[in-house]
Amino acid sequence: MSMDEEFKNTEQYAESDDKISYEPYRFDWAQPEWKDTRHIHKRAALKDFGTERHRDKDVYLSREIAEEEWEKLFAKTWHFVGHMNDIHKENRFKKVEIGHESIIVTRGKGDKINAFYNVCQHRGATLVESDFGSAKKLVCPFHKWEYGMDGSLKKIIDRETFREKALCHDLNVPKVRAESWRGFIFINMDPDAMPLKDWIGAELDQLLSAYDFEKSVRVREVVMEWPVNWKLAHQAFNEGYHVQATHPQFFPAVNAYHVQHDLYPNGHGRSIYNFMMPTPHLKEVPQDLAVEHKIFLREAGLTEENFPKTYAEVPMAIINAKKARKNYAIDYSKFSEGQLIDDWGVGFFPSTETFLHPEGWFIQHWRPHPSGDPLKCIYSAQVYAVPGVGELPSFTGVQGKVNPDLDKQPGIVYLDTDDLEGLGPVISQDREVTPRTGRGVKSRGFKGAVYSDQEIRIRYWFDEYYKYMRGHKP
Ligand code: FES
Ligand SMILES: [Fe+2]
Repeated sequence: MSMDEEFKNTEQYAESDDKISYEPYRFDWAQPEWKDTRHIHKRAALKDFGTERHRDKDVYLSREIAEEEWEKLFAKTWHFVGHMNDIHKENRFKKVEIGHESIIVTRGKGDKINAFYNVCQHRGATLVESDFGSAKKLVCPFHKWEYGMDGSLKKIIDRETFREKALCHDLNVPKVRAESWRGFIFINMDPDAMPLKDWIGAELDQLLSAYDFEKSVRVREVVMEWPVNWKLAHQAFNEGYHVQATHPQFFPAVNAYHVQHDLYPNGHGRSIYNFMMPTPHLKEVPQDLAVEHKIFLREAGLTEENFPKTYAEVPMAIINAKKARKNYAIDYSKFSEGQLIDDWGVGFFPSTETFLHPEGWFIQHWRPHPSGDPLKCIYSAQVYAVPGVGELPSFTGVQGKVNPDLDKQPGIVYLDTDDLEGLGPVISQDREVTPRTGRGVKSRGFKGAVYSDQEIRIRYWFDEYYKYMRGHKP
C-alpha cells in the first residue's frame, strides 16, 4: 500500500474535534541516566540560531546555486567514500561517484591509499567502469594508455607518433586528497583542505572511540536516484521530529521525541535516539514486543524463552545481557549503557549521516545529481558490521543474520528510483515523503520553512552551509 493510501485509511483526513493544545516551549529534555563513566553523553553547548523563517528557497531550486554549491561546498569538503576493508588488499580499487565526478580509490602498500580522478589524460575517457576490482595497472580502453595504481602514467602506445612537445605536459592523472579516520576513507577535491583529523575534531573522535570502526566489513551498499534536492532529503536525517508521522512502526521501540541533539565544530552533529523505549506519542503501550525489540534481544544473546514480558523490562534486559557476554565479537564493556541500546546518529557535514550501534553502522549520503539538476539527487548507503555479530536494526535494510566476510563483500546494488522494497522498510518512507517537500518549496504558496528545536541541526547545518557559500570558509 502506498503511503497516500495508508493515510487515507487513518484519521489523517478525518475531522477532529480535538483542540490544539501544547505545552509551553522547552527543549532541554532530560535523558535517561545511563551509567556513563567516560562522560560521552555530555550535551554539547546549544547555540541559538534564532526563529526566522528560512526564506531562501532558491537553494533548492536554482541550477546556478547548484553549480556554485558544487564549487564552493562539495569541492572543498571531506566526503566519506568507504572503508579500508572495501579495498583490503594491495592493488584493489573502488570507484566512487560524487556529483559529476568519478574518482578511483586504490590501496597501495600497507595502509597507503591513493585517490585520483577516473579520467585518462589522453582524451578524457574514464579508466574504469566497474565499482570494485583488483589490477596491477589501469589500461584506458580507448587507445590503451597505461597507468599505475597511483594514477601515474606508465605507457603510451605508438609513443613515436607524438612529437616531444606534445608530451611535455604532466600526464599523470591528477590526485584527489584521500585520508582515513578509524578505518573510514574520506576524499577531498581541495588540495589545501585542512587535514581530515582536524576537520572531524578531537571531541567527536573521543566520543566515538568505543565503536570498532576499524574492524568493520561492508555487508550492503546501495545507490538510488531520489527525485528531490539533496538538501531536502538529507534534512530528514537531521531531525527526529518526522519519526512520529513518517515512521509510525517505530512508536513502540524508538523514543524519537526526547532526542539529544549536539552540535560540533565544522557542521557535524550527533542525535541520540532512545531505542527500546516507546515514544510518548503512543497513547497506549501495546503488550506484544515489537520486531525491533526482538532483533535487539536476539542480538544480545537472549532466546525467545528468556525474553522479558513487558516493554519496560526490555532496555535493562538487553543492557544486562550484553554486559554479561563474554568472548563475543564485541567488547561491550567499552560502551556506556545507553550506547548498548540507543541509536547514535552522527552526521558529518555536509551530506553524510550515520546511525551507530555497537554491532554495526548504517552510513547514508545525499549528493548532487551528475546532471546538475537541483531537483534530483543521488542517495547512497553502506552498511558495515563487526565480524561475528548476528543481526542489525531493521532500518539498515539488512534482514536476518549478517555475515561480514572480507573476501565476500557484496557489489553495489543499483536500485530503481521507485524500488521501495529494495530500500528497506524505513528509508523507503523517507524516500516517499521527501519529494513532497521538493514540490512544495516551488509553490508561491510556500514562504519558507519554520523549524522547531527538534530540528536545530538543520539550522546549524545551514549556518555552516552559508559560511561556504559566502566565502567565509577557506
Ligand atoms: S582516451 Fe585514453 S588512451 Fe585515448
Ligand atoms: Fe526518516
